[in-house]
Amino acid sequence: MSERIPVIIDCDPGCDDTAALLLAFRCPELDIRGITTVSGNVALDKTTRNALRVCETIGTGVPVSAGAVKPMFCEPVYAPHVHGEDGLQGIPLPEPQKQVTGKHAWDAIYQEAVAQDGKLEIIAVGPLTNLGIALAKYNDLAKRIRRIVIMGGAAAGGNVTPCAEFNIYVDPEAADIVFKSGIPLCVCGLDVTLKAYLTADELREIGALGTPQAKLFEAVTSQNCEKRFCPQGAPLHDPAAVLYAAGDGIFSVQRCWMRVETSGTITRGKTVTDCYSDAQKEPNVTLVLDVDRKKFAARVKEIMARY
Ligand code: RIB
Ligand code: CA
Repeated sequence: MSERIPVIIDCDPGCDDTAALLLAFRCPELDIRGITTVSGNVALDKTTRNALRVCETIGTGVPVSAGAVKPMFCEPVYAPHVHGEDGLQGIPLPEPQKQVTGKHAWDAIYQEAVAQDGKLEIIAVGPLTNLGIALAKYNDLAKRIRRIVIMGGAAAGGNVTPCAEFNIYVDPEAADIVFKSGIPLCVCGLDVTLKAYLTADELREIGALGTPQAKLFEAVTSQNCEKRFCPQGAPLHDPAAVLYAAGDGIFSVQRCWMRVETSGTITRGKTVTDCYSDAQKEPNVTLVLDVDRKKFAARVKEIMARY
C-alpha cells in the first residue's frame, strides 16, 4: 500500500457522519490525525458529544476538537427532522469518557497542517465554517493543505432548497472562502451521494456482522428520511466522501469550475458550476459525479467487517 494519507475529518454528527467515521477508522489508507466538529445537523454541543461518543464506540483515542458554534455570518440552520433532536436519532450510546482537546478546531487544523508539512488532507462532511475561519485566521494555511474532499453542494438540485445542499446552504460565506482558496478540492455533491445508497437488505447484512460498530452503522443509516430523493435506499452522503478520499476507484469525476452563490434570495447556497455549460471557466474542483453502486455497497460491507 502506498503511503497513508494524513487526514482530519471535519464533521457535524449526524447520522451519516457517524457512518462515515465508522468507515474511516477501518480504511487503512487513512491516517486520521484528528476529528473536528462544527454546528450543522444539530448544535455544536450535540455534534461534539456525538463525535466523542462515536469515537469511544470505535475505540479510538484520536483527538476531538470543537469548532464553530454558528456559521460565520448568519444564524444556524439545523436538521433535527433528519438526524433527530440529539443528532443520532436517539440511538443510545454511552456518555463519552474522553473530552475535547480544548483547542479550537481551526487552530487544530492549522497546527496539524504545519506538522504534516503540506501533506494534510481534510475530509469535510459538515458546513465549512471551521475551514472558513481557519483560512481567514491563517493566511499561510491554504498552501499547507494538500486537498479537501468535501461532501457538499451539487451540480444539479438541492436538499434544503431546490438548488442548495445542506452543508453549503448552512454557511455559504465559509464555503465561498474555501472554493476561492486555491486548495485542490474534490466535491462529492448530491450528484454522486444520492447514487451512493445502500438498500434495506444491504444494511441488514451489515447489521448482521454483529459487532457494536456494525449494529451502530445499520442503526444510523436505516432511518432514511430522504425517500423522495432516493426511494431505493439510504443515501450515504458522508461515507461517499470518505471512500473517495481513501482512493476508491469506483467513482467517476470531471474537472470543472465551481463557486458558491452567497447573495441570491432564492439561490443562496447554490454551488454554481460550468459542468453542464458551454461557458467554460478555469477549473478549480474535481467534481465527483457517479459511482459504481454495487462496488460501493460491497466496499462498505468489506470495511465494516474489519471491526
Ligand atoms: O446534505 C447532506 C449533508 O448534510 C450530510 O453531510 C449530512 O450529514 C448533513 O450534514
Ligand atoms: Ca454531515
